[in-house]
Amino acid sequence: MSLQSLEICDFRNIRHASLTFSSGLNLVTGENAAGKTSLLEAIYHLGRVRSFRTHHVNQPIRDGQTAFRLVGRLLREEGRVVPIGIERQTAGLQVHLDGSVVRRLSDLAGNFPVQVLSGDTATILSGGPRYRRQTLDWALFHVEQAYRDVWQRYSRALRQRNAALRAGMPANQISTWDSELLPAAEQIHYFRQQYLENLIPHLQAEVEHLLPSVAIRLAYQAGWPADTTLAEKLERTLEKDRTLGSTQYGPHRADFKLTVKGQPLQSHCSRGQQKAAVVGFMLAQVKCQQDRSAPMGAFLLDDLGSELDVMHQSRVLESLRELDIQVFVSAIETGRSALPGWPRLRRFHVERGEIQEVV
Ligand SMILES: Nc1ncnc2c1ncn2[C@@H]1O[C@H](COP(=O)(O)OP(=O)(O)OP(=O)(O)O)[C@@H](O)[C@H]1O
Ligand SMILES: [Mg+2]
Repeated sequence: MSLQSLEICDFRNIRHASLTFSSGLNLVTGENAAGKTSLLEAIYHLGRVRSFRTHHVNQPIRDGQTAFRLVGRLLREEGRVVPIGIERQTAGLQVHLDGSVVRRLSDLAGNFPVQVLSGDTATILSGGPRYRRQTLDWALFHVEQAYRDVWQRYSRALRQRNAALRAGMPANQISTWDSELLPAAEQIHYFRQQYLENLIPHLQAEVEHLLPSVAIRLAYQAGWPADTTLAEKLERTLEKDRTLGSTQYGPHRADFKLTVKGQPLQSHCSRGQQKAAVVGFMLAQVKCQQDRSAPMGAFLLDDLGSELDVMHQSRVLESLRELDIQVFVSAIETGRSALPGWPRLRRFHVERGEIQEVV
């Protein structure tokens, strides 16, 4: 699946743009503050109906305007073109897909899966466990049909258990929630573990190409100690949970760590190596999706040049090319030498919010 074209109105500094993309590589260049990240952010909106830069939903509306509008045409695997429209007004949001109004954003799941690596998303290493769990869950929502349902069941049971803890309910009443919580927790754990087991060989292959001298390891933590079951742990920590008014152990506390020689990647590797490793991780995620024939939309890589030297930039682009998916890469500038053998390539140049295709 790929994004065939996009019309942008009043999104950040982009007043209007009408663009047709390659299903291979789309390279976006321009000086600082030209609008490169803004273009990637607009594309990301089509997949996730939110930004990767801000939680303030109205922030991308161009200064002085009351709405932004994005109209994309998605080319599905079976060859059908599906229009998607997003209009964000200061007063609300309207999403249209294939001619119908989208009422629940969860109905868009799998419609146009996008992944982004921007400066901020390198928080997969430095950010808290919540970020890594979100990364994992997003991938599982796309590869595992049953995951969303089990994840919702778990979240609901956890909310109810926590409310019961806060209300100071007696222990036997709190334990009644556990019968709903525990089976969902086990399933989430099982899916996450399976997913990461499949990911590890891909991760190692990707990192071997990007960083031949770095042997990377991935360690998964379920959210409760490995030497006990969650049921036992919940029972033993019930008093503490009651005091704190929340559940201390469970899949909502899961995490995974990337390490090199037993140390966290970020303390052992240079900034450039860290960025390359995160790219490797994300490419491995794409491979997992492809293994399961899950639909893959676009891969967005903002600011290719930051922290990567020319050799590592070329390697990243080579790896992206191997995946055969639609890619959007922004960079302040790139030499043609950094783009070996991309069969389908379109270049765009951005200047003060004006985007032109370079032919
Ligand atoms: N809501 C908005 N309305 C108008 N302009 C905005 C809005 N939000 C941000 N901008 C401006 O848009 C410009 C483009 O920002 P953007 O982050 O896309 O630049 P960039 O090309 O990625 O630059 P860099 O190379 O520095 O990353 C900036 O000058 C920014 O201040
Ligand atoms: Mg930028």
